[in-house]
Amino acid sequence: MNIYVDSKMSDDDRRKELYQGALFVNSPRPSALKLCRLAQDLIEEAFSPLDPVTVHQNLPAEKCAEILAVLKPKFIHHPNAKEYLSKMLAELGCDLEKTYFDVPRMRTAFPGDYLKSGIAYAFHPHRDTWYSAPFCQINWWMPIYKLEAENCMAIHPRYWNQPVRNGSGQYNYHKWNLESRLNAAKHVKTDTRVQPHPEEPIELEPQVRLVSEVGGVYLFSAAQMHSTVPNTTTATRYSIDFRTVHLADVSEQTGAPNIDSACTGTTMGDYLRGTDFSHLPKEALALYLDGTESQYVASPLAGN
Ligand SMILES: [Fe+2]
Repeated sequence: MNIYVDSKMSDDDRRKELYQGALFVNSPRPSALKLCRLAQDLIEEAFSPLDPVTVHQNLPAEKCAEILAVLKPKFIHHPNAKEYLSKMLAELGCDLEKTYFDVPRMRTAFPGDYLKSGIAYAFHPHRDTWYSAPFCQINWWMPIYKLEAENCMAIHPRYWNQPVRNGSGQYNYHKWNLESRLNAAKHVKTDTRVQPHPEEPIELEPQVRLVSEVGGVYLFSAAQMHSTVPNTTTATRYSIDFRTVHLADVSEQTGAPNIDSACTGTTMGDYLRGTDFSHLPKEALALYLDGTESQYVASPLAGN
């Protein structure tokens, strides 16, 4: 596995490398730090007067879940988040006219057994391409507070070209979204939605754990096998991740090879152009539609 640190490679060449399994690590840039600062401000306001990194020691898990249920969407939809994110992409060599991103997510990984499901789901080993992500999707990941090797994220390089039996054949992104809306409308507490898991034992070693500074970001293909590292520290890990696609690769239908994903549907409708936050052109999006997007549409009566 090639790991590039602060590479000066062009974005076109970088994407080609990513589609062959490479990782890219970048030191903090001004807009990445602004995005982290925004996240820190929102986190600290939400948990005030508690220290967010040790909140698990002072707050019942249910109360914490309630706070996260407000905090996480607030960050995702904050008007400054998209602005900082697009500037961050430009600072790292992306052409904003052709690069599309989805809104940044805030993730948490608490120590021990505290809050391991729902709003703070600890991700089992998976490829994002099992979840209807396109093969040209690139994942971006960075820590909001100081990161440790014992509370970060792991990449499992042996599975780059080793297929794994998995449940992606049961997964459809549009169905997932519909079920999420129906669940939310019915205030359902137990999550019955099925996520694609490996269906055979996974060798977690060897694994790569990239431990960057706050605002240091790393990039990997959506086809990489990755997982949440069980947090054995005393500190909660807060991180930001988001995804990008490049219009040329979308149109040419290039990207990482598909070795074991069988899901249907596509996340292609989610990405927003770096310049004006518009969606992908219809003709580009159409290449990825398989008909399931019209099969799973919320009924106008849903939630009544
Ligand atoms: Fe993932």
